[in-house]
Amino acid sequence: MIEIRTGIFGDEIFAACFAIRWTVFVEEQNVPAHEERDAEDQAAVHFLALIDDTPVATARATHRSPHLVKLSRVAVLKPFRGQGLGEALMTAAHNAYPGTDFTLNAQLHALPFYQRLGYQAEGAAFDEAGIAHRHMVRLSSSSR
Ligand code: COA
Repeated sequence: MIEIRTGIFGDEIFAACFAIRWTVFVEEQNVPAHEERDAEDQAAVHFLALIDDTPVATARATHRSPHLVKLSRVAVLKPFRGQGLGEALMTAAHNAYPGTDFTLNAQLHALPFYQRLGYQAEGAAFDEAGIAHRHMVRLSSSSR
């Protein structure tokens, strides 16, 4: 059974989210460890997806303005990809902020994943933590 929980900086949900981020971004994608933890963690709401009580996926949400939320650190543990968990997590985050626009910086390989969820890419590719990204936006008026 899939369950989505939310937490804040310093609690046990955050710890589980950060453990997933470490496995995916630092160990799998070679993001420098000092870049993985940043100041946004303290202001963010942290989403954790569990399957039968096992933490398997995470994302975090931070308000940029009252009607704009930035999602980041979207990660599903490798053995659990391709089962709809990333989509379920994103949908839970969208539903938590009704009537809100969303923004994120997408790794290029993940563009089709976000496009299916209503995001559109804007501008040229840029480097973030050594990985090519594009800025994406999802307007609430065009949400599915
Ligand atoms: N490229 C193209 N399509 C993709 C995709 C990708 N990298 N990842 C998922 N999709 C598609 C799936 O095929 C699926 O479509 P389908 O139902 O027609 O098969 C749909 O998007 C939903 O996929 P889902 O199973 O919910 O995705 P996931 O649980 O595998 O999570 C990521 C997707 C990107 C979050 C996951 O691959 C991941 O954690 N990758 C490593 C970390 C990362 O790169 N995060 C993104 C940072 S911007």
